[in-house]
Amino acid sequence: MVTGAAGMLGRDVLTAAAAAGLEPIALPRVELDISDAAAVDAITRELAPDVVVNCAAFTDVDGAEEKEHQAVAVNGPGAGNVARAAAAQGAWTIHISSDYVFDGAKRSPYLESDPTAPESAYGRSKLAGELAVARSASGRHTIVRSAWLFGAGGPCFPATILRLARQREELTVVDDQVGCPTFTGHLAPALVALARDPIEGIVHVAGGGRCSWYELAGEVVSNAGLSCHVLPGSTAALGRPAPRPAYSVLRSERPGVPELPPWREGLAAFMEAGVPS
Ligand SMILES: NC(=O)c1ccc[n+]([C@@H]2O[C@H](COP(=O)([O-])OP(=O)(O)OC[C@H]3O[C@@H](n4cnc5c(N)ncnc54)[C@H](OP(=O)(O)O)[C@@H]3O)[C@@H](O)[C@H]2O)c1
Repeated sequence: MVTGAAGMLGRDVLTAAAAAGLEPIALPRVELDISDAAAVDAITRELAPDVVVNCAAFTDVDGAEEKEHQAVAVNGPGAGNVARAAAAQGAWTIHISSDYVFDGAKRSPYLESDPTAPESAYGRSKLAGELAVARSASGRHTIVRSAWLFGAGGPCFPATILRLARQREELTVVDDQVGCPTFTGHLAPALVALARDPIEGIVHVAGGGRCSWYELAGEVVSNAGLSCHVLPGSTAALGRPAPRPAYSVLRSERPGVPELPPWREGLAAFMEAGVPS
């Protein structure tokens, strides 16, 4: 059972599960609002899934600064509703969390055992979700922290860069945030592998390697053969409402956690498949 099934990751989880011979059940937001505990209970009881993958979330990072209450309701107690209902049916919960639970002050990869310290409302809401899932799932859960997602199923950074690079001669992109771009076409099969062979607790699963948004934009433009110049800029000059971690490279210290291909391979696969406009 996949919640948030019409989202960017949710769509690829459905595809990956079907490709693996499973029978995924799609629950987009119009069919299930995860902040409605009674509805989550009723539908989970009715469908009796083996595994629930919670891809539903309030994902507007800047919007969450003004709507923290709304973001927390979905990403915190909402995630808890999903885990509690799954546990009541004996199902395993796979919940997706984020690199934004860290403050970004480290300069070596964040491991599962590193302390969390979110700086944004979105990060706080995602941490609330991790705690709610851990509390509600009776030990039958995997919390998968990932980062910088891009994929065919939704608006994403590489698609935006491609559109802008076709319109402009010059683009300025921040070079003072470093992370792990992650192709949802690579993350989704890893989630399916975890559904089949579960690991309890928190795991880090993100694209291999690391880069800044500036480097990622440069790779998009060069892969597309465009002549637009990409220039490095600063986060401060951009003036976005939500603070972002300056460094949020994720690596796993836990045995058996699926490793994803390097982000450049993810980007190449994404662009080969045809970027949605
Ligand atoms: N995107 C990233 O860079 C990134 C990085 C790290 C972790 N993550 C996590 O990865 C997961 C998937 O994100 P994504 O990138 O696929 O985001 P997305 O495309 O925004 O998908 C999230 C989906 O959840 C739905 N949703 C929102 N509120 C809901 C509610 N109350 N009940 C049920 N569904 C609801 C949204 O529906 P509407 O569109 O109708 O609102 C949307 O279809 C999320 O947990 C996110 O926090 C994302």
